[in-house]
Amino acid sequence: MTETFSGSFTQQEPIPDEAIEAALAVLRHGRLHRYNLAKGELGETALLEQEFAAQTGARYCLAVASGGYALATALRAVGVGPGDAVLTNAFTLAPVPGAIASVGARPVFVGVTESLTIDLDDLAAKAGTARVLMLSHMRGHLCDMDRLMQICDDAGITVIEDCAHTMGAAWNGVPSGRQGAVGCYSCQTYKHVNSGEGGLLITDDEEIAARAVMMSGSYMLYERHLAAPGPEVFERIKYHTPNISGRMDNLRAAILRPQLRALDAQVARWNERYQRIEAGLRGTPGLTVIERPEAETYVGSSIQFLLLDWAADKVQEVLRRCAARGVELKWFGTPEPVGFTSRYDSWRYAESAPMPASDRVLAGIVDMRVPLTFSLEDCDLIARIIRAEVGAVYQGG
Ligand SMILES: Cc1ncc(COP(=O)(O)O)c(C=O)c1O
Repeated sequence: MTETFSGSFTQQEPIPDEAIEAALAVLRHGRLHRYNLAKGELGETALLEQEFAAQTGARYCLAVASGGYALATALRAVGVGPGDAVLTNAFTLAPVPGAIASVGARPVFVGVTESLTIDLDDLAAKAGTARVLMLSHMRGHLCDMDRLMQICDDAGITVIEDCAHTMGAAWNGVPSGRQGAVGCYSCQTYKHVNSGEGGLLITDDEEIAARAVMMSGSYMLYERHLAAPGPEVFERIKYHTPNISGRMDNLRAAILRPQLRALDAQVARWNERYQRIEAGLRGTPGLTVIERPEAETYVGSSIQFLLLDWAADKVQEVLRRCAARGVELKWFGTPEPVGFTSRYDSWRYAESAPMPASDRVLAGIVDMRVPLTFSLEDCDLIARIIRAEVGAVYQGG
């Protein structure tokens, strides 16, 4: 009998009851705007910022409307402007080069290795061309952060970390987002906490934090923040920083606070699922599992493997056969982007030179979501299906 899988790859878990209760309380009092506070009230958004700063060990935190908004705000806050070059990953998702383009700057793409991380040799070679790196920890894979920071520190490059896929991850115990000058997170439905839309930005730099708060649309109400610098810092920047509204509201913040408290437990559940799938795929002829470095604490909310040097029609056949059995795989080698699978040469508003070594890797990347609604038995079944279909196509030549 041919096994098939009937679950949904896009179905996340429901919002926890505690978060629903907190959201209802906000709806009942009606003060959804973050600066609309009753006398003595601290506000869900300010509390969320205070708690996320404590959770990551950052001095300052700002909650905003989306991960993409956090990225663009970080760029502006570190002083990136029209025409500036910004180094970034060739393998990432469209909001990353999009954030760079949104401030009139120019992405300079850095290659991807078979570990699915930024190519540090390519970064070292291009280090002289820009003063900012927007580093995307794409699909949760952390590069050797010690070497990356060494390269960037030596070249005077400011690092902004895109942690959309690494909330809860760490390198040598340092939370992802804490090595660069700024860390940016997404709270959109497919990420590690779910408020529909939303973003968080952390930093230890008081001027970056103050500029980000002003830009997000604080008017002159910055004293209502609990994880922002003191008023003397705002005095220095407030007349020179434009308001580009993108605030978070108290409803989303109320939904997020209980989810952040549960993050470590959720990470453990994701990794159980990831490891079951990985174990099931390991040893499949023609398929390369991505080995995770020991220094990396990852969050297995998605899994990738490589069909390296396969002919395009064979990869497509694997995708088709898996889809017929209910397993939804995405491929970063498609000539035309499907859904989110665009890559550096799809972003034609940004100039790029061909990167043959990265093209070879991109042409082999197969990607799959691992929502927490999957049981461990689902994960075993999914791995069996992929293994069988990759094997059948590979052996069929
Ligand atoms: C790698 C990466 N960076 C940034 C973002 C932007 O996050 P948001 O959708 O919250 O704007 C996403 C969202 O899909 C992403 O996948």
